[in-house]
Amino acid sequence: MVSSPLVTLHTPQLTHLDQLVALDQDCLGGLWTKDGYQRELMSSNSHFLVLSFNLTQTIIGCGCFWEILEEAHITLLMIAPQYQGQGLGQLLLYSLLRDAVSRQLERATLEVRVSNQPALRLYQKFGFQVAGHRKGYYKQTGEDALILWRNGLHYSQFQQQLSLWQQEIDDRLTANHWQLSMDVPNSDNLISD
Ligand SMILES: CC(C)(COP(=O)(O)OP(=O)(O)OC[C@H]1O[C@@H](n2cnc3c(N)ncnc32)[C@H](O)[C@@H]1OP(=O)(O)O)[C@@H](O)C(=O)NCCC(=O)NCCS
Repeated sequence: MVSSPLVTLHTPQLTHLDQLVALDQDCLGGLWTKDGYQRELMSSNSHFLVLSFNLTQTIIGCGCFWEILEEAHITLLMIAPQYQGQGLGQLLLYSLLRDAVSRQLERATLEVRVSNQPALRLYQKFGFQVAGHRKGYYKQTGEDALILWRNGLHYSQFQQQLSLWQQEIDDRLTANHWQLSMDVPNSDNLISD
């Protein structure tokens, strides 16, 4: 019998820098440089989570937020193109929000291109709402950004919502034949293997 491929959620190290830059190039066209990733990995306000495909020891997904006062500013969310559409993006977003809750943060925010329908749909699924526009925010294309916010991370309803998402994500990963392993602190309430 062939077993399902294993994907591990973990925090990245400086040894992963080259992989993160390559993933960024593939998913975001080179948003951050190697120096940028290094700075972020070394910053105590920057919280990263990555997904590694165990078979090849390759990072196939990455998410990050800045902790600013009681807010989580999501700065990165990306899944390698060949692994998109299998529930891994929502696993990462869920895990970032779960991490933000464990740090007692109250709100999450991010900017997204107006044309980025997959990301917008994903964020809306997790209760993010459009709070404003930044005109011509993306310098290369002149495209506008939407500013999204998700409030109420510290309310008990949000904990209940997290449990519902956990079940949905678990089912989706199983349907796509993924096995998940967790190597992160405070993972007791995250999805089990
Ligand atoms: C956005 C991104 C992280 C989503 O990752 P993913 O693994 O493909 O997403 P999932 O398979 O977990 O899908 C979760 C939800 O996202 C939305 N979504 C994902 N792909 C979509 C698509 N092609 N069209 C519409 N909605 C889509 C849906 O709401 C989906 O839920 P559903 O399948 O129940 O409808 C991924 O497309 C990506 O890395 N894009 C490039 C980088 C990027 O734009 N990042 C966001 C910057 S703000």
